[in-house]
Amino acid sequence: VRSRRQRQMCIRDRCGIIGINSNKPVSATILNSLKKLEYRGYDSAGIATLSSGLINEVKSEGRVDNLEKNSLVQKMEGTIGIGHVRWATHGLPNSINAHPHSSQNVSVVHNGIIENSTLLKKFLVGKGHKFKSQTDTEVIVHLITENLKTENIVNSIKKTLKSLHGSFALGIIFKDQPDLIVGARRGSPLAVGYGPNENYLGSDSYALKSMTNKITYLNDGEFCVIKKDHVEFFNEDGVKINKKVLELSSSEEKYDKGDYKHFMAKEIEEQPITLKNGINEYIDTSNNDINIYNFPWKSNEISSVTLIGCGTAYHSCLMAKYWFEELTSLDVNVDIASEFRYRKNRFKKDTLYVFVSQSGETADTYAALDLCKQNGMKTCAVVNVIESSIARDSGFVLPIHCGTEIGVASTKAFLGQILILYMLSLKIGLWRNDISKEAFVNKLKDLKELPKLVEKTLLTDNKIQTISGTFNEAKGSMFLGRGFSYPIALEGALKLKELSYVHAEGYPAGEMKHGPLALIEEGMPVVVLAPRDNYYKKTISNMQEVIARGAKVLLITNKSKDEVVSENIWEKIEVESTNEDLLPFLLTIPLQKLAYYSALKKGYDIDKPRNLAKSVTVE
Ligand code: M6R
Repeated sequence: VRSRRQRQMCIRDRCGIIGINSNKPVSATILNSLKKLEYRGYDSAGIATLSSGLINEVKSEGRVDNLEKNSLVQKMEGTIGIGHVRWATHGLPNSINAHPHSSQNVSVVHNGIIENSTLLKKFLVGKGHKFKSQTDTEVIVHLITENLKTENIVNSIKKTLKSLHGSFALGIIFKDQPDLIVGARRGSPLAVGYGPNENYLGSDSYALKSMTNKITYLNDGEFCVIKKDHVEFFNEDGVKINKKVLELSSSEEKYDKGDYKHFMAKEIEEQPITLKNGINEYIDTSNNDINIYNFPWKSNEISSVTLIGCGTAYHSCLMAKYWFEELTSLDVNVDIASEFRYRKNRFKKDTLYVFVSQSGETADTYAALDLCKQNGMKTCAVVNVIESSIARDSGFVLPIHCGTEIGVASTKAFLGQILILYMLSLKIGLWRNDISKEAFVNKLKDLKELPKLVEKTLLTDNKIQTISGTFNEAKGSMFLGRGFSYPIALEGALKLKELSYVHAEGYPAGEMKHGPLALIEEGMPVVVLAPRDNYYKKTISNMQEVIARGAKVLLITNKSKDEVVSENIWEKIEVESTNEDLLPFLLTIPLQKLAYYSALKKGYDIDKPRNLAKSVTVE
């Protein structure tokens, strides 16, 4: 079992790295790969290449676009180089702190955190090394430079890595080595790619996919020496090891905005198709079944399920709790990964631990998975990126099949995650005889209709555009729901705050009178999710309580022959109708659009909201 300290150190990563060793000039290809890695951070970016026996470095604050515009990048020569996109942890996000960091002899890009950097810096300053930045990374540069005075490349790397406490993925080039990039991993993901007369290093396979589908993943403690025609791998003691080359399933997926203004808009509209893909992947129509092949555990080996994720993925877990409790007799727990990883957990052999993540690289979710693995638990990943660390290291994987999601605000991945979790709860319910085959088949029938209903619900556009202005102008807003609609209320509020930078709070409608009702004042916009389900009447009562206190209520319900009996509703949106289990999918759509249009009206960067990153690879 790992100590708490070891767990804290595990997987703390920031940013994205790339390295290319080729016969051709590399700066343009590195730049393209950095654009792909931008989802990992976009505070600053930089490239270093070797040319004419010197290390050249170009760095810019802000997006990779800024780096591209830098005239020095256009002129960069060299057939070997490294690049980096940063999400700042140590030091301001400016061009001085941007990576690569270089001495005269060595240049380094780094993901992770060096915990003993202050001590190391003191030692190195004592030896006469001069530091330029506020980063922890720079100690690595000078430590290697120092060790190279007495050691060869492999030994200097081995010695340097042993001195570092913390987590890292590193890419390193050397002034005197025109055919060599070193990569090293402890805690932060790193992959090597193989091409014709050139080889690569990258934070993930996504960054390498445009160049190769042949990949080797480094494990913790390993490092590698990448030459143009071959790659050598070493364990932490500097002993050569053999590693497998994996062939990735497909070559690069082409994914662009098409006619849409933003990826988010496209990703919202794609949802009928992505749901259809997910349904086709899992539902066996001829046998009325859900195919979950090779599930490694028998139904009587599991008596509870713990669902773990962050942000939107956590909301998917909360959503799934309602379905698991409804459709199975399992005990269900839901946890935020950053909380789970540091708590004194009671690990139980008969619990299935489910990790939900779009990227499969979220540091806290990975650490929670790692902890479960260290304790010998049953682990299952619900992920979008199947080559991700969480997918690779879980006992079982359920891919969500929704394709690349670029918008930082998760939309189609949310519906993809809840679709898989719904199917998993149905399947486990059937396995354990908690639901009848007849009920199961009826629910499958409804599920197959879902993509069409989502498509129709997507048409409620104009009204939301108009309404969105009110949310922007208000001091804050609330999103209320009960039962199945409560996690959707949380998700709606998260979307609005991350895109429009206005305060929004999701709350269980029944809890309002225990405190938050005090927030309601004349004209405050409140979204009430009240579909015609078991909770309908209760939610309508809660709605009347906020209307009575002056709230401007946007009611989101589903179409029904019965009129909503309530006065003074400000606006009403009706989604399509289906069985109670599936209404959360439909209620999500207007909330995604509300957030999108609010941010659009404000002219904000919709696909890359401020301070956020698509994949949160830092703790
Ligand atoms: O890649 P993951 O699903 O693990 O990411 C988890 C969260 O960081 C993510 O869902 C985040 O909350 C989104 N920006 C929300 O739109």
